[in-house]
Amino acid sequence: MGQNLELALAEMAWQALARAYAPYSKFQVGAALLLKDGTTWTGCNVENASYGGTICAERTAIVKAVSEGKLQPGGLDKVVVACNFEDDVWPCGICRQVIEEFCHADTEILISRKQGMINDRMKQSDLLPHAFGPSHLN
Ligand code: THU
Repeated sequence: MGQNLELALAEMAWQALARAYAPYSKFQVGAALLLKDGTTWTGCNVENASYGGTICAERTAIVKAVSEGKLQPGGLDKVVVACNFEDDVWPCGICRQVIEEFCHADTEILISRKQGMINDRMKQSDLLPHAFGPSHLN
């Protein structure tokens, strides 16, 4: 995939980050998905006064795509996460598990820690090795 498309996804993720509802942690996150069908989806974290009700940016985007009938298992090509954080930062464990549900062997997670840049990338299979997934229940 061209770098331009990845940077465009990163920009979408930063736009989503600007919509983060994070009054408690102030930790804003945005995510942009690229699906196998070529469509893109975005999400931000949405916090709640009952903290456990919080949903991360990655899962917001995934839930949007699934609920619109566009994402099935194996349909997720890329997850680009925007987060204004200087150090290494990767999706949380719950998001890794939810990504696992819809990933394929080459699904990649990309991190943008500064607008206009892709800082890190990793395959989902490296981010969540030995994963429990849909194949275990077939
Ligand atoms: N958060 C995400 O949106 N994605 C992650 O992968 C890690 C954490 C959000 C959840 C919460 O709103 C805030 O960051 C602090 O945990």
